[in-house]
Amino acid sequence: MTLIARDLVVEIGGKTIVSGVSVDVRPGDKVGLVGRNGAGKTTLFKVLGGASAPRGGTVRRSEATGYLSQDPRADPAAPDTNCLSHVLSGRGLDVASTRLEKLTRALEEDPSEANILAFTDAQEAFERLGGYAAEGEVHRLLAGLALSPDRLELTIGALSGGERRRLELVRILFAGSELLLLDEPTNHLDADARDWMLQYMRTYRGALLVISHDLGLLDDAITRVLHLDREQEEATGELIEYRGSYSQYIKAREEDEIRLGALASRQTKEIARLTAQADTMRGQTAKRARVAKNLDARAKRIEATKVDAPTKRRKLDLRLPDPPPVGRTVLEASGVHKSYGSLDVFEDVSFDLGRGERLLIIGLNGAGKTTLLKIIAERVSPDLGKVLLDARARPGYYAQEHEGITAGRSLLEHMCENTSIGEQQSRGVLGMFGLSGNKVVQDAATLSGGEKTKLALAQLVAGGHNLLLLDEPTNNLDPASRTAIGEALSGWPGTMVVVSHDVEFVRCLQPDRALTMPEGTLDHFDEEMLELVELA
Ligand SMILES: Nc1ncnc2c1ncn2[C@@H]1O[C@H](COP(=O)(O)OP(=O)(O)OP(=O)(O)O)[C@@H](O)[C@H]1O
Ligand SMILES: [Mg+2]
Repeated sequence: MTLIARDLVVEIGGKTIVSGVSVDVRPGDKVGLVGRNGAGKTTLFKVLGGASAPRGGTVRRSEATGYLSQDPRADPAAPDTNCLSHVLSGRGLDVASTRLEKLTRALEEDPSEANILAFTDAQEAFERLGGYAAEGEVHRLLAGLALSPDRLELTIGALSGGERRRLELVRILFAGSELLLLDEPTNHLDADARDWMLQYMRTYRGALLVISHDLGLLDDAITRVLHLDREQEEATGELIEYRGSYSQYIKAREEDEIRLGALASRQTKEIARLTAQADTMRGQTAKRARVAKNLDARAKRIEATKVDAPTKRRKLDLRLPDPPPVGRTVLEASGVHKSYGSLDVFEDVSFDLGRGERLLIIGLNGAGKTTLLKIIAERVSPDLGKVLLDARARPGYYAQEHEGITAGRSLLEHMCENTSIGEQQSRGVLGMFGLSGNKVVQDAATLSGGEKTKLALAQLVAGGHNLLLLDEPTNNLDPASRTAIGEALSGWPGTMVVVSHDVEFVRCLQPDRALTMPEGTLDHFDEEMLELVELA
């Protein structure tokens, strides 16, 4: 069975995402689900994964299903759950190990026949569940996903958003499954962990249904792509199936869009022609009226089977406001040193940044890219050295985890609180990011992942900054938005420091210089470095 959904009707916030669609996923299938930001991928996924109920239709799925949501912080697990128990609970081992512990104590106190039996029973159950091998297995998964083992001692609530996602992945992979539903599994992973995760998905033996902006990296491993086409806010979406790899999908989709576009315009023209001809014959002789009626009927028939031209992917039209004035040297870092405990992340990093310069920070896993950005943003203080900002520098920091979003407040209220522009202008800026119409009064906590990123970026560009500090700004964004934001930023005369592993985005951004961490060496940026970007 694995996953069988029939006649699904899925709604959210008064919108119909799909109506009457069916989905089949069988063992060995590796299916990618794609669609623009806000199309409804996550909403549909929740229904398929069992996290919410459909308005209509049925979903049957294999008992052993692993489901990773886009934002596990919103999942039902209590924030005071211990992280290790949470992972073990994936296999019911948390209960089995507590039981074993209890019976060990009972046996020590009273080695009666009954206690011996109960203990042996519990021990066998623990072993059957792989209890003894579990610890090693959990650590292997932690290492793969670059999550430090000491996190296991914390509670779920103490983890950062990125760590929470990785812990959830560890739990799901540890649990073992026949079917995996993963919503953006590579978000928040650094290069090594991302490669590990991609390899895991490639070689996974069960059925996989995945939403990911890294589908291109899985290319050949993908056997089918489901395209959720819902370009307009108020439209009901269609789920179109493309067999084959991801690049085959890209090609086939392009051809479809061209073909359907041409067919739609032929049909429109034909209808117009028939109607115009009919118009010239109306209100004259009875014979002519009959011909007119005939022409009308033909036009109607075409109308009935008329295809819709694929709605053009809405391009973001970003024009960023000019940055306020600032001195010639925006920032000067000298001898910056940071360690966590006994681990020296970097030492003696010095560089400066001129007005209008775009600096890309590159470096491997754990090289301290995010830490350096946080030091510049004054969220973390260095152990030694200092970062001097120009007196007129107005830094704006973008962190990847959407911490700035407050539930119960609309997008407009967010803009109003975090910028000094009025409502009309706020609507304008939000609109440039594709957030328009009723969307601006929606509760920001209910936005899709990509829409949250866009709101955060909208606040940033309208915030009157002249120095932007961007940490992975394109996570969650659909391909069209990624390029649009890269291009808009590359035309913006302000100063920027950027961490990104998104090659396409960096190419659009055209950085001037690159700072390699942890050494802190500064070079002019050239295209050859794009290879490093992917690793970074
Ligand atoms: N309570 C609500 N009221 C109004 N609209 C809502 C509500 N909850 C969700 N939506 C909207 O439903 C749409 C679908 O959201 P969903 O999270 O499924 O999109 P998605 O395709 O996963 O997008 P992304 O690529 O950004 O993750 C979004 O436009 C979202 O803003
Ligand atoms: Mg989503």
